Amino acid sequence: MDTAVWNETEFMHITARPLSGTLGAEIGGVDLSRPIEDQVFAEVREAFHRHLVIVMRGQRIEPEHLVTFTEKFGSAEPHPLGSRRGLGDHPNVMVLENKPGKPGPRNDFWHSDISFDDVPPLGSILYAIEVTEGRADTMFCNMYEAYEGLSAGLKSVLDGMTAQHSAEKLVQEVPNRLSVDVSPPSVTHPVVRTHPGTGRKALYVNPHYTLNFTGWTPEESRPLLDMLTARATRPENVFRHHWRAGDVLMWDNRCAMHYAVRDYDDTMPRLMYRTTAAGDRPY
Ligand code: OGA
Ligand code: MN
Repeated sequence: MDTAVWNETEFMHITARPLSGTLGAEIGGVDLSRPIEDQVFAEVREAFHRHLVIVMRGQRIEPEHLVTFTEKFGSAEPHPLGSRRGLGDHPNVMVLENKPGKPGPRNDFWHSDISFDDVPPLGSILYAIEVTEGRADTMFCNMYEAYEGLSAGLKSVLDGMTAQHSAEKLVQEVPNRLSVDVSPPSVTHPVVRTHPGTGRKALYVNPHYTLNFTGWTPEESRPLLDMLTARATRPENVFRHHWRAGDVLMWDNRCAMHYAVRDYDDTMPRLMYRTTAAGDRPY
């Protein structure tokens, strides 16, 4: 456990302004271009645990600042299948770029990053360098709420289940930017995981990487997966972020899914740096 006990009192060093009813908060009082003191970072982590998605606006930072911040949570890992171009001198800083003739990667499906890995990432961070205002929002949903809102009967069934996650869909994508052309073997994760930082239970399946519940066929699994996704992504359980240049936004892959809205084309520039903080094996 890496939490401190904070009651519902205000933070001492930062501010955290909720951005929706169930997740997302804008954090004030943090300048990522300077070293973050331990007491400040402890509050940022607490806000991250409470709100699942945190946004620090108006940042002007270099790749190394992004890496330093990321590594306070877990080591900054490159994509395991090479799905993104890394910066030359910072291969663990991935570049998400959309520009004329070079459309950016699609992420317009609900997912938790890299859940097809044995040890999937704790969180992902995007730093917006250039945006087209009003386009390419990112949506997030709260997977604690998705779990807690189910009936006692379904919760207890899901509690005992595991599911197979695979990169198959990523590998089949055209054009495919991966360094592999065969999907690695699927991995098994609990359907309901316990967040190591908060101790709370969250639903941990997603419609893109979860192939099937263990012992069920994909065809048998799809209706239940679709039902769980529909519940998780109810509008009341979603926060939609409107990007501005200078935003640094971090989401928790252990208890949130996200979806990149594809309402733009290659004439609408977008440039983001992305890092991924290593996590723990789900339990
Ligand atoms: C990602 C992702 C969302 C976005 O980088 O994993 O889903 O809006 N990005 O770019
Ligand atoms: Mn993603």
